[in-house]
Amino acid sequence: MDQFENILLEKMDGNIYCLTINRPKVLNALNQQTLMEMDAALQQVADDSSARVLLVTGSGEKAFVAGADISQMQNLTPLQAKKFGETALAVFRRFETLDVPVIALVNGFALGGGCELALSCDFILASENAKLGQPEVCLGVTPGFGGSQRLPRIVGRAMAMEMLVTGRMVDANEALQRGLVNHVYPQAELLEQGLKLAAKICNNGPVAVKLTKELVQRGQDLDLENACAMESDLFGLSFACDEQSEGMQAFLEKRQANF
Ligand code: CAA
Repeated sequence: MDQFENILLEKMDGNIYCLTINRPKVLNALNQQTLMEMDAALQQVADDSSARVLLVTGSGEKAFVAGADISQMQNLTPLQAKKFGETALAVFRRFETLDVPVIALVNGFALGGGCELALSCDFILASENAKLGQPEVCLGVTPGFGGSQRLPRIVGRAMAMEMLVTGRMVDANEALQRGLVNHVYPQAELLEQGLKLAAKICNNGPVAVKLTKELVQRGQDLDLENACAMESDLFGLSFACDEQSEGMQAFLEKRQANF
């Protein structure tokens, strides 16, 4: 399945996909080609109706992704930089709108565009050596792949502002305390723990999981009344699927549901 140069896409047991950014010599920095390959990989996952979860990680033991590729960005004109940012934003948006949960396994540095990539996933598991930050101001630029917007929505405006204007990296424990990452594991266990969590998701009704992601993603930008109305609609819709009858029947028969 793997026709890519800068990423790896693997389909694992249980219809779990794993996308690995694979440029370890430059700490998995994101250049234009890598973004294009990620886009194509996301299309493959989106086209596979058996897909249940996507894990996203970085190659090597040092970095998840250390940012956009600075050597490629250095000589961009303002318009080229705008276009580069728009390309990445469109690719990252696909992680949010992919119909299955996307979990970032942050296995080291997640800086600038790397932190922004992790923020575009549904949630983050981190290794003990993880460091997350938005150091763009240290390079004399603003964030360009969504960090100024997604970070405040996740950690709150005050913490986000501190990180964005100082460029300070937060370690895994601080990220855990701040709700930026959900769990922290020793690096050697990160993939295994990601797979374990993905397997738990796979035990549940696949349509219900997809509708739940849609509710959270679409609902967060709506007012509460419209968001709850959408929830009623999708709750009703879930009763149109076979898995609702199987899930409830299995409960009443005291057995495991067979989705
Ligand atoms: N782009 C291009 N190359 C990068 C890179 C990046 N973002 N990050 C690291 N590299 C390269 C280094 O240039 C180095 O290459 P050479 O071996 O050819 O010299 C290699 O990866 C290893 O990096 P270091 O030698 O620097 O490793 P270190 O352990 O000393 O430091 C680090 C690690 C603290 C992560 C450091 O590499 C670093 O600060 N990287 C840049 C982080 C950064 O500023 N990211 C934001 C980029 S801007 C951005 O992302 C904008 C946006 O919002 C879209």
